[in-house]
Amino acid sequence: MKTESTIAGLRAAARAFRKAGKSIAFVPTMGNLHKGHITLVENARRRADVVIASIFVNPTQFGVNEDFDKYPRTLAADSALLAEAHCDLLFAPEAKEMYPDGRTQLTTVAVAGITDILCGSSRPGHFTGVATVVSKLFNIVQPDMALFGEKDYQQLAVIRCMTRELCFPIEIIGVPTVRAEDGLALSSRNGFLSSDERRAAPEIYRTMSNLKLAIEQGQRDFASLASAAQGHLKKCGFEPDYVDIRRQDLGAAGPEDRQLVILVAARLGSTRLIDNLAFEFT
Ligand code: PAJ
Repeated sequence: MKTESTIAGLRAAARAFRKAGKSIAFVPTMGNLHKGHITLVENARRRADVVIASIFVNPTQFGVNEDFDKYPRTLAADSALLAEAHCDLLFAPEAKEMYPDGRTQLTTVAVAGITDILCGSSRPGHFTGVATVVSKLFNIVQPDMALFGEKDYQQLAVIRCMTRELCFPIEIIGVPTVRAEDGLALSSRNGFLSSDERRAAPEIYRTMSNLKLAIEQGQRDFASLASAAQGHLKKCGFEPDYVDIRRQDLGAAGPEDRQLVILVAARLGSTRLIDNLAFEFT
């Protein structure tokens, strides 16, 4: 696997692949890779001739009091995992390569509407940072397709919306969430959990599974169900940011809806965890 740290270098390598008639699948990440990320790479491997991954801890998607400084940076181990998964090319730029003007870059990509809710309301500016950096990466790599995890459900919706509305000629592929055996969604932030917190963390998945069951059994008062689930998570030691039951397009759910998604964000100690469970029933 080749690694490029400059935009010019990455462009030259990608251009050579395109010239040889190869299709390109792109997997953007912030590194500290785990089985969730690698599943995206494996899926990309099956779909395209060439797999390009990126590792960039994007400063513009972190709020001022968030974990940008302590976000784990493990490039050597990540490179080994990517090579093992037969990734062809890694783009790992420094911040000054992506943002030569720092945070004063004048152009941003702001997706309206769906960014007002859920993580968008608790992390102002977060999705503008994500949409901006993903636009830049799309313009640098110019892939045929890009793969994103369903783990970050709202992020995937934002990227789909941006890609459609800005006419990027890129197919967006969502990949199901990879979980630990006890149900906890794999995340680079799980490494911040103490052993007690790690033991408590799967309660998010259990709570979502119980909500799903209650809805499948006929309960339709989504607001009460969500607020009871929040109370339960509080009792288990979480500080819930939200528990929400929505339509899969993230619109408000009504009693007639049959394609739903349960979304949770909750802090455990100083670690913010997010997860979701999409399901349909008759
Ligand atoms: P990061 O959190 O590193 O995640 C990179 C990709 O891996 C995202 O598409 C995310 O949804 C996916 N992913 C993470 N955990 C997963 C899991 N357990 N199962 C399946 N997929 C999983 O998301 C970002 O980085 C950034 O916001 C980024 C899109 C790279 C822009 O900076």
